[in-house]
Amino acid sequence: MFALQAARGSSAADLHAQLLEQARALLADERDQTANAANLSSLIYHTLPELNWAGFYWMKQGELVLGPFQGKPACVRIAVGRGVCGTAARDRRSIVVPDVNAFPGHIACDSASASEVVVPVIAGDRVVGVLDLDSPVRGRFDEADARALEAVVRVFLEATDLET
Ligand code: SME
Repeated sequence: MFALQAARGSSAADLHAQLLEQARALLADERDQTANAANLSSLIYHTLPELNWAGFYWMKQGELVLGPFQGKPACVRIAVGRGVCGTAARDRRSIVVPDVNAFPGHIACDSASASEVVVPVIAGDRVVGVLDLDSPVRGRFDEADARALEAVVRVFLEATDLET
């Protein structure tokens, strides 16, 4: 299909470009939400270094509910406004958390997680869910990661027929 592993020695900008290109290729012939979110979680998890979790939460009846992901089992339901995910959904903006212990109300699903980035998935004016990445490395994510993941989410939204 295509190389899942990024080329050795890639810069962060190279990795972001590869991720976006591979996301487009991976989602090109499929519009199913579960299939696309599952494959995208796997692509992100295996392309970006130093992750211990990558996946989606979907907005269902006013709360975030766990969707397709890679990593250890995670918290299933998150209220809007709670944790990093619920805050990103409420405020409709990406959030980079360099140190999860310093984020008030952070929800610790995996004690190995040290830093996190969450990007909202917004269709029109509706928050459909969030894309969440965790890392065991403090300060793993920066604003460039957030912008790259926002671009990946746009590819997902264009390629997918949303179920809810
Ligand atoms: N840490 C998140 C919860 C989800 S897990 O990291 C997979 C939060 O504070 O919202």
